[in-house]
Amino acid sequence: MNFLEERILKDGQVREGDILKVDSFLNHQVDIALLEQIGDAFYEHFKDRGITRVLTVESSGIAIAYPVARRFGVPAVFAKKARSMNLDGDLYTSIVHSYTYNVDNVVTLSKQYLHADDCVLIVDDFMANGKAVQGLLDICRQAGASAAGIGIAIEKGFQNGGRLLREAGVDLYSLAIVDSMDADGTIVFREH
Ligand code: G4P
Repeated sequence: MNFLEERILKDGQVREGDILKVDSFLNHQVDIALLEQIGDAFYEHFKDRGITRVLTVESSGIAIAYPVARRFGVPAVFAKKARSMNLDGDLYTSIVHSYTYNVDNVVTLSKQYLHADDCVLIVDDFMANGKAVQGLLDICRQAGASAAGIGIAIEKGFQNGGRLLREAGVDLYSLAIVDSMDADGTIVFREH
């Protein structure tokens, strides 16, 4: 069991609707030492890929992107969630449906911060159905940038985002894959 899986078992809480609450260390209060371990782990996995930018989507993805980008010595850039379609032309935009919140978000990124010669590592705190990641891949495609891989802290393996990406040949590296979780607090991780 790795450091993140141990921490999830210690401090994570299973909530109704298959929600794993990790607010005490990952996406409300943030444990910086743990995030740096995540940065190190992603660096080890992707270090030979020529990464030039780390890309995520606001808001909790930013905390993950920071230590990863610092480790690679490249900029972290985050797509923003816009509330209206009234956007100016210098943006890449993609529509991301959130299953968890049942809303469509428009995610945007200024064309200034992603270019055709970029080699991108996409990171996020959670992946469920993978729609946020698909939106970021779409933005990379629009920019003509190559997506070298995806680093996810916690993947919900019982939803299909990870399976679809792996079947498409994407290098998806998730530190903790939750295969099942019960209301009584039992969490089962996929074997590495
Ligand atoms: P998807 O991108 O993989 O399709 O996921 P989905 O739309 O279902 O998830 C929507 C949001 O809910 C995402 O945050 C995701 O990180 C978060 N989320 C999904 N499942 C869980 C869970 O079990 N526990 C926690 N803590 N979060 C979960 P977001 O919309 O990007 O919001 P935020 O980054 O601003 O918090």
